[in-house]
Amino acid sequence: MRMILYPWAILPAVYFLLIGVRSKIAHSPDNYYISKQSTLSSAFRDTTVCRTIPGLTKAQVELCYRQPDTTEMALQGLEQSVKECQQQFATHRWNCSISTKSRNPHTSVMFQKGYRESAFVYALSSAAVVMNVARACSQGFIISCGCDPNKQNMKKGSEDFTFKWGGCSHNLQYGIRFSKQFLDSREKASDIQSKINLHNNQVGRLVIKNNMQIKCKCHGVSGSCELKTCWRQVPDIKQIGKILKDRYEKAILVNHSNLGNGKQKNQNRITTTKKKRKKPQARLKLWVTPDNKMKKKDLVQSLLFYQRSPTFCEKDLNADALGTIGRQCNRTSTGPDNCSSLCCGRGYNLQRIVRTEKCKCRFIWCCQVECQDCSIEEWVAICN
Ligand SMILES: *[C@@H]1O[C@H](CO)[C@@H](O)[C@H](O)[C@H]1NC(C)=O
Ligand SMILES: *[C@@H]1O[C@H](CO)[C@@H](O)[C@H](O)[C@H]1NC(C)=O
Ligand SMILES: *[C@@H]1O[C@H](CO)[C@@H](O)[C@H](O)[C@H]1NC(C)=O
Ligand SMILES: *[C@@H]1O[C@H](CO)[C@@H](O)[C@H](O)[C@H]1NC(C)=O
Repeated sequence: MRMILYPWAILPAVYFLLIGVRSKIAHSPDNYYISKQSTLSSAFRDTTVCRTIPGLTKAQVELCYRQPDTTEMALQGLEQSVKECQQQFATHRWNCSISTKSRNPHTSVMFQKGYRESAFVYALSSAAVVMNVARACSQGFIISCGCDPNKQNMKKGSEDFTFKWGGCSHNLQYGIRFSKQFLDSREKASDIQSKINLHNNQVGRLVIKNNMQIKCKCHGVSGSCELKTCWRQVPDIKQIGKILKDRYEKAILVNHSNLGNGKQKNQNRITTTKKKRKKPQARLKLWVTPDNKMKKKDLVQSLLFYQRSPTFCEKDLNADALGTIGRQCNRTSTGPDNCSSLCCGRGYNLQRIVRTEKCKCRFIWCCQVECQDCSIEEWVAICN
């Protein structure tokens, strides 16, 4: 008897095979954290955070009540993003003076503006939410997620195949989804401001996605590395900050001449929120003149802004700026902290400061290091 095997006849079998494999992978992390879950479940359900954070939108509060644990991790990500922003802008006139009193940086003035700096803080905070949530998933801090179940979704050809996926990958997909739900939901309006904020949020998420790291562990006799198991990690906040600071320098000003009206030709058009067919008005059409030779791919990753920044020289609380009086400048620097730029031409005074530093350290067998405190005298330039 001849057997005819129709291709579609095997489809259900393949389907069940796939589902079986998927659920196996998906469930292993859950089992792993089951003991943690039972002891921590009250912590996971603590909704205090939803009532104590100012300036959350209705959608955010609702999301918080559904997922207080994930929201808490998102807020911790936001706190880290403010610290990193202050590091990245320490030498600038605007030194990321976002109030850290509130755990919700989106209430500060910079987030209501369309400056180049605003673009940076939107992208960084969106990235930081992805980063912290994705990592918290794999650490078992969130009840509704575990390690990344899609361990194998690596780019073919770009990495060596001499290892097995193992360990616990950070849950990128979950982090991205939550960042969208939590932050994009703030942008309800379909005006240019909202569209640009959504775009910059997405830029932040892409930075994480495109900079995932592979960490590996060797197994085998005395580190022979016969078997290597690897997992994927989100980049750390410093790396994200550095990449976005670069994008900040190259950010694109969106103005009426490059806002799409469908008439221009021979130009690149980018749209954000590609998949949101439901809300076509939320798409941003942007025309960029071909002379800056940007590819669509690069535009998608560029920060956008629509308001020119003030000088940030004077104190202006309507621009989240403290002014630069009293800031320490650097007389030899060619960066933004050079005295002529940082002091806005007002000049500077030299001041003697004394700081203490550990010195004359001795190694004491075994294993202590003993140091003395030394005073170091320095002259620093302080802006008038
Ligand atoms: C608008 O943007 C274009 C190119 O980005 C620039 O050449 C032009 O000066 C801008 N116009 C205004 C009013 O800022
Ligand atoms: C930013 O500069 C102001 C002075 O203009 C200073 O008081 C403040 O401590 C600085 N903030 C940070 C984070 O460096
Ligand atoms: C001042 O700038 C110079 C050149 O960039 C640098 O080498 C030096 O460490 C800076 N000094 C301070 C106090 O930051
Ligand atoms: C000082 O910093 C500004 C802003 O970064 C820069 O444009 C300028 O060239 C710098 N000046 C010097 C003398 O390095």
